[in-house]
Amino acid sequence: MSCSCGTRAWSPCEIPDQKGRVALITGANTGTGFETARSLAEKGAHVILACRNAERAQAALQRISALHPEASLEFLPLDLGSLESIRSAARLVRERHPRLDLLINNAGVMLPPKSRTQDGFELQFGTNHLGHFALTGLVLESLLATPGSRIVTMSSNAHKYGAMGFEDLQFERGYRAWAAYCQSKLANLLFTFELRRRLEGTGTLAMAAHPGWSYTELARHATRNPIVACFNSTLGRILAQPAAQGAQPLLRAAVDPAVSSGDYFGPSGPGEWRGSAVRVSPHRRALDETAQQRLWQISEQLSGVSYPL
Ligand SMILES: NC(=O)c1ccc[n+]([C@@H]2O[C@H](COP(=O)([O-])OP(=O)(O)OC[C@H]3O[C@@H](n4cnc5c(N)ncnc54)[C@H](OP(=O)(O)O)[C@@H]3O)[C@@H](O)[C@H]2O)c1
Repeated sequence: MSCSCGTRAWSPCEIPDQKGRVALITGANTGTGFETARSLAEKGAHVILACRNAERAQAALQRISALHPEASLEFLPLDLGSLESIRSAARLVRERHPRLDLLINNAGVMLPPKSRTQDGFELQFGTNHLGHFALTGLVLESLLATPGSRIVTMSSNAHKYGAMGFEDLQFERGYRAWAAYCQSKLANLLFTFELRRRLEGTGTLAMAAHPGWSYTELARHATRNPIVACFNSTLGRILAQPAAQGAQPLLRAAVDPAVSSGDYFGPSGPGEWRGSAVRVSPHRRALDETAQQRLWQISEQLSGVSYPL
């Protein structure tokens, strides 16, 4: 049973055969990224696990191989907090993979103490948004060369509380961890919608997703904070959905044949906290075309990456 409305429940059993396809997933060693890698590998895709920690990446590769001995897997060293690392990862992708079917911008950090990427950007804006902006631009050649390729970027319900502080994107006038996280997740959506517009007519699609509230390691780098306490509490563990379920909106955006460019997927339940993957509505601030274009221009300047679009 298939339907183009996106409101019906979806199950990973519906993932079509992925043999011959190449998928790159950032932050694939744990959480929703790991589950996405596992599901795509099970269906036959060649999966590139783009991770910053080689040991954790190898452990993830071994876990997937143990479950699916026939899985085709590759580790790509990638630290999204370093433009140098992003450039060398992208170079390797272009050299090794003239074909790239799926780019899944999943990795993220939440509520770290005040800190900066290697290039001096506020850590959440730098990692969650700018790092993925740069990576996408640098591997676009391979995506554009692949008919029907897709770029899926992970946002969050938190984007609804976000505002783009264009006058102080790096929180130099005072760091507020939650505001910075929400801004980075709003940036993920502004980026996706501007990318969708720029990709029109190329055959490559841009979508976004969010995992609701999923039990992962996301709060591990965080400072003491009521949101983190809630994430880590026993009640939190019970209320949150498993990471595998949290990965479903990302997977649906990546493989459902009925998806349209610009679609945004999240859980179906109340408040989009848990449930099966359905199309959901972004906050109106994410649809602001002026903000989308402004963020794009600033991101090109800050990252030094210009898109060939
Ligand atoms: N869990 C939720 O309820 C929830 C809700 C809304 C949105 N999200 C979003 O979902 C995405 C996945 O998060 P998760 O919940 O699965 O958390 P997770 O278990 O902490 O996974 C995050 C992944 O991102 C990687 N990462 C962090 N910084 C990186 C960097 N500089 N370079 C490369 N990789 C980096 C981590 O690598 P290491 O293992 O090396 O740290 C890890 O693999 C994030 O974008 C997050 O914002 C999650």
